[in-house]
Amino acid sequence: MVTPTAAQVSLARRLPKIELHAHLNGSIRRSTLKELALAAGLNARESQIIRGDARTVSEMFAVFDVIHHAVRGGKTIRRIAREVLEDAEADGVVYLELRTTPRAHTECGLDQVGYVESVLQGFKDYEETAQRDRRCFARLILSIDRRDPAEVAEATVDLALRYRDRGVVGIDLSGDPTKGRWETWLGPLTRARESGLKITLHAGEVPDVDEETRRMIAFKPDRFGHLCFLSSENQSSLWASGIPIELCLTSNVLTCSSTIPTYAAHHFALHHGRGHPVALCTDDCAVFGSSLSNECAIAIAAFSLSADDLRAITRRSLHMSFLDPSSHDFAQILTRLEAGEEMDLQ
Ligand code: IMP
Ligand code: ZN
Repeated sequence: MVTPTAAQVSLARRLPKIELHAHLNGSIRRSTLKELALAAGLNARESQIIRGDARTVSEMFAVFDVIHHAVRGGKTIRRIAREVLEDAEADGVVYLELRTTPRAHTECGLDQVGYVESVLQGFKDYEETAQRDRRCFARLILSIDRRDPAEVAEATVDLALRYRDRGVVGIDLSGDPTKGRWETWLGPLTRARESGLKITLHAGEVPDVDEETRRMIAFKPDRFGHLCFLSSENQSSLWASGIPIELCLTSNVLTCSSTIPTYAAHHFALHHGRGHPVALCTDDCAVFGSSLSNECAIAIAAFSLSADDLRAITRRSLHMSFLDPSSHDFAQILTRLEAGEEMDLQ
């Protein structure tokens, strides 16, 4: 395993960073999760599940079941969204593309529309208190869960279109990679793209999904997440396509250890070494016990990256983002990155 030096950790913290792959409930502040778990009266088994760092795909989904059990109501969703942005700012993240699956919490009277409103309200709460010079800009991606039937996927696209002017920039496909079939979401995803939304797909998270990955590459999404399992044919078409990849080192090493036993063996080296566009991301800070600066420090240590290498990856990540490149926010973030500004974080 890799242990970054204190200097590498400090550099990774100080440099401004871009986060493109983070799930709202997977990024919940751990102290908040503890508090909510207590209030929800979790049993001993459930409490145990959320205490450790997930190590396998099935353990990860067991953690999500417990988190979703503990997180109830619009006020809580709003609070979690605000706290995720506060934590990102404290970690030196200047732009965060957060994703979440709109879920109805029927017993609290919250529907999917209310869920999205609550997340966006959390963004607003953060913006009202953010420190101007360190502010983390944020946009939202709505996730289709692989367990969702086509009607739910269509409704998620409708929601994303409805909130496009208020910060929703795209659609993600995620959830248990052993569930569902690509044909189910192809129609809704095609409509989303034709309507101007950006698309990112979780892909290649488990073995033996080469045919699905082949069809996903043929669909030409704007970005992929993970791609831990990739046949040589799919790798060639991916490289030919130039589709950027969101890479989450700790998440991948923990949940895909059969193919990525160590950080040094992570496919970051393969794709980045070839000049293929990649972004360093966290996936689920709370579930894997990491942060973006920690992921960057690990990358510096595992792949002998210099400060300039990391700055270049970060600038490229901004260009991979779903943020409108002609927007004022994009220009402001780019200026901060180009200044190579190092932040004075406590
Ligand atoms: P939420 O959508 O904000 O509730 O975030 C948690 C959800 O994100 C999980 O229930 C999964 O559907 C999805 N998710 C988080 N991490 C992963 C991953 O590594 N692979 C696939 N889906 C994931
Ligand atoms: Zn993910």
